[in-house]
Amino acid sequence: MFEIIKVANYEEMSDKAFEVMKEVVANNPKCVLGLATGSSPIGMYQRMIKDHKENGTSYAEVTTFNLDEYCGLPKSHPESYYSFMHRNLFSGLDIKEENVHIPEDGEDKEAKCKEYDAAMEEYSVDIQVLGIGSNGHIGFNEPGTPFDIKTHIVTLKESTRKDNARFFNDNIDEVPTHAITMGIDTIMHAKKILVVASGANKADAVAAMINGPKDVECPASVLQDHPNVVVVVDEAAASKL
Ligand code: GLP
Repeated sequence: MFEIIKVANYEEMSDKAFEVMKEVVANNPKCVLGLATGSSPIGMYQRMIKDHKENGTSYAEVTTFNLDEYCGLPKSHPESYYSFMHRNLFSGLDIKEENVHIPEDGEDKEAKCKEYDAAMEEYSVDIQVLGIGSNGHIGFNEPGTPFDIKTHIVTLKESTRKDNARFFNDNIDEVPTHAITMGIDTIMHAKKILVVASGANKADAVAAMINGPKDVECPASVLQDHPNVVVVVDEAAASKL
């Protein structure tokens, strides 16, 4: 079930998304957050940091699980999702490093996937933040991914690598070819899901997520089956609804 909140622009989207997030953290200081990378949630993360600094909202007891990570990039690479999350959120909060979980690439990829699922099994995610790829991907679950899958390794679509080349000197050859991602099944287990989308290049994916058939070709369409999804979209991203 979708609650759709339409706003004018990125800043308003970030304000609204922050309100939804803040309610969860304020109600339960020991909550479990599912977090996403990409440009969409950065504004919300900035507001979380501001709120922590100005109002003292604490994340000391909060646990986080990130959706995904590139394969083949060291953690220290500025575009690894490990670096992204520390730069854009964790370094500004009082969160404990041991409570932060981000999928990790490794020699035994199968084992790394199982490890992440095992860590998540001990928790129940209170709110999962999702951006949406222009091809409808969530996390790095690309079109064609079965809905019943857990953490797995994916081959990134060329369109996704093109979209993300802006973070790699506009050079698609520098964008990793593979990633490790939380699966759709795991995402669907979150109690609440918060989707943030901004910009005209997301309009088709947002429309397919909400009004299209539920089909693996648009991974986000699986959310039609989730009981509690808040979608915060700006005008451009909502233009095909
Ligand atoms: C990336 C990430 C996703 C993200 C999406 C949209 O490739 N793996 O988790 O939601 O693509 O990114 P952006 O918000 O920058 O448009």
